[in-house]
Amino acid sequence: VEHLLGIKYLKATDIDLIFKTADHFKEVINRPIKKVPSLRDITIANLFFENSTRTKLSFELAEKRLSADVINFSASQSSVKKGETLIDTVNNILAMKVDIVVMRHGNVGAGVFLSKHVNAKIINAGDGTHEHPTQALLDSYSIREKLGSVKGKKILIVGDILHSRVALSNIFALQLQGAEVKVCGPTTLIPKYITSLGVQVETNLKKALEWCDVANVLRVQHERMDIKYFPSTREYTQLFGINKEILDNLGKKIVIMHPGPINRGVEITSEVADSNQSIILNQVENGVAVRMAVIYLLAQQIKR
Ligand code: CP
Repeated sequence: VEHLLGIKYLKATDIDLIFKTADHFKEVINRPIKKVPSLRDITIANLFFENSTRTKLSFELAEKRLSADVINFSASQSSVKKGETLIDTVNNILAMKVDIVVMRHGNVGAGVFLSKHVNAKIINAGDGTHEHPTQALLDSYSIREKLGSVKGKKILIVGDILHSRVALSNIFALQLQGAEVKVCGPTTLIPKYITSLGVQVETNLKKALEWCDVANVLRVQHERMDIKYFPSTREYTQLFGINKEILDNLGKKIVIMHPGPINRGVEITSEVADSNQSIILNQVENGVAVRMAVIYLLAQQIKR
């Protein structure tokens, strides 16, 4: 593939290659000298039109570990505030000889749009409620690391599926690798089309947790929420919140994941998020190696 715009454009063999490359980079970043010189001749711009902590810093670190030159752009401190368009913004940045653009944007399809109008490799770091491909890759990579493989595993995605780009990218990635996927949440936060993707729906949290090997718990996205969709924070926590009691009563130990940021005490208790069942910080650690792999593989296609 020419860009990383979404998991839906990838094949299973692309994911295999990304993971094998990430295995190598994970070993590299655990060495005393955490860098390789591979991309000394590549310049990367990180364009964030929406807030981010993990994705922005993880991409920047991945790029620096590969020895690329890095520039960072935050829309809130830029001339976007004076009315400059997305294409003008990006073309001005590309005029400074940039090879790869990593972009997070609030609009669905922003990465695809950009890839058709500018001459650079585009990596989607999250486009509205649509896709967040590197999050799904690092999630699957973390499952593979913890359980040996993704194939045949039962993965539950819990929570606000409707507003979640993490959910959609995870569904595509997990199915490509042969996992079974179920979603659980209030019916108001589960899109109608989900069953057409081959995903099962379970609205009873206990039953859903009894079924799964891994529960990926999503943040309730208050910022994208129309009040009519939401029961109430208290009701949500009562019906869909993951706590120690519900996990202890399962009779098996499932793996707990969360893409972050966490609403502690809403979709997950601190006791669970910080427990040894949780691989939340392993996900963050793996994000750097996975993003190094994605950037490295795309950079191999740039003529130089
Ligand atoms: N998981 C994730 O995308 O986190 P940020 O919004 O902090 O980048």
